[in-house]
Amino acid sequence: MFAGGWIGGGTALADLRNEIEKRRTFAIISHPDAGKTTLTEKFLLYGGAIASAGMVKGKKSMKHAVSDWMEIEKQRGISVTSSVLQFHYDGYCINILDTPGHQDFSEDTYRTLMAADSAVMVIDASKGVEKQTIKLFKVCVMRDIPIFTFVNKMDREARDPFDLMQEIEDVLGIETYPVNWPIGSGKNFKGVYERNKDRVLSFTYNGVGQEAGAEVMDVHDPGLKSLFGEELYNTLQDDVELLDGAGGEFDLEKIRHGKLSPVLFGLALTNFGVEPFLENFLRMTTSPLPRQSSEGEIDPFSPDFSAFVFKIQANMNKAHRDRIAFMRICSGKFEKGQEVVHVQGGKKIKLTQPQQMMAQEREIVEEAYAGDIIGIFDPGIFSIGDTVCAPGKKFQFEGIPTFAPEHFNLVRQTDTMKRKQFIKGTSQIAQEGAIQIFQELGGGMEEVIVGVVGTLQFDVLEYRLKNEYGVDIRMEGLPYQYIRWIVGEDVDVKALDLSSDTKRVQDMRGRPLLLFTNSWNIQWALDHNKGLRLEEFSRS
Ligand code: G4P
Repeated sequence: MFAGGWIGGGTALADLRNEIEKRRTFAIISHPDAGKTTLTEKFLLYGGAIASAGMVKGKKSMKHAVSDWMEIEKQRGISVTSSVLQFHYDGYCINILDTPGHQDFSEDTYRTLMAADSAVMVIDASKGVEKQTIKLFKVCVMRDIPIFTFVNKMDREARDPFDLMQEIEDVLGIETYPVNWPIGSGKNFKGVYERNKDRVLSFTYNGVGQEAGAEVMDVHDPGLKSLFGEELYNTLQDDVELLDGAGGEFDLEKIRHGKLSPVLFGLALTNFGVEPFLENFLRMTTSPLPRQSSEGEIDPFSPDFSAFVFKIQANMNKAHRDRIAFMRICSGKFEKGQEVVHVQGGKKIKLTQPQQMMAQEREIVEEAYAGDIIGIFDPGIFSIGDTVCAPGKKFQFEGIPTFAPEHFNLVRQTDTMKRKQFIKGTSQIAQEGAIQIFQELGGGMEEVIVGVVGTLQFDVLEYRLKNEYGVDIRMEGLPYQYIRWIVGEDVDVKALDLSSDTKRVQDMRGRPLLLFTNSWNIQWALDHNKGLRLEEFSRS
């Protein structure tokens, strides 16, 4: 099946297949405070990747989450960047991609989802699908990847579980299938009914900070009535009947196509229902899937290495002052020091110092497989969406779309002596995809127009310029709301007939574009300039 390639021999191929089949790569997504960090920590505990609880979280106690490496994240208690964690559990090799929990960073979430094969969505049982996060969750649905829902904090007064299901279906437009069902909530939380096993996992509270007790009981056990109390017991019977009668069918195909989300209830904090969630998740998800490229589907089990860059991050560690390109391996095996082709750059390169992340702990990887994420030292050659593959191949993976910015600020440095640092900082942060920068047509970089999807990104820019590049800036809000790239090489941009509040600018590659204050002005430009073609996204 695998003719040629640089992995020789049948055993090597069998090993390759084995390694790739073990891989599960998912993104974890939630509204801030729903419990994503706590859940991640429990996963890592199961995998033995961390020794004790509290290593991942404890924002208030000033210990910071291992996955939150930027100062601003610690200060604000929000995740700004995504990080990658790997652990082993039950014969699987699991890669978790953490995502920022704020809608202002939904573009970063989208890119991270491009690198994942499925997503875990954490929802606070008392709050349901929260307003701020709808955009993020919709981004998840847009990718058609399997979405697994963990309804957390059942020890708090929770919303009615049927209402929660309905809300997920209505707001996100995805069907739900409850794999387990809660018995009570808050102080009266008694456990969950496991539908596929027809049994009850009963819950015992063991005190603050203690792991909860979880006892498996037969659903027909006569002791359940006295354990739960008559009311909860009867509610459970009614609920089960209703779910079996009126609830949707379990359909693995729909799950794998992102049309149906399996839902499990639990409590991340005291570790109740986390292991069943992990087990169900691993059973229902697949190993790395083929990816589309300019030469058709790329089989993950092919021995030829290929990967794409989905994230670039500079200065993750101040002491290192470096830039890391994160790549998702799409096929084959990667070996340290291997020579590859950087397709967009048209050059052969050696991938040196490949790293795998345990947040700030960096480990040099000797080898990695399809499904894994590696961080490669980037001397400034990579862009988001770039493909690297084995020598002799030239295909490109499908690009990652750029979201059109919706907010614009004029940014300049307060100290003109810092011009060089200002240019370097804004350019690097823009190359990471954290912001988009524009300048006056034919103008210099004394001041730049910064476009972002969410306004919090301005705060990140200001913070990073100050802390990483030593540059103070002044920002001035601009009234533009829409951006359009001008299609075609030979358009005389200066000669265009435009409304007085439309601005002509250029992007980092010198391509002209227009900024509009309202959608009416876009139409005005099209009406007054015959043949003018405008595009919402830049094609790189
Ligand atoms: P996030 O990453 O989604 O932002 O959420 P995170 O895990 O940081 O959890 C947010 C808060 O919710 C934390 O409390 C955490 O302890 C709490 N929490 C997580 N899971 C559960 C749960 O199942 N039940 C209950 N009752 N609480 C839960 P905090 O007070 O903000 O932080 P800390 O003082 O515990 O560090």
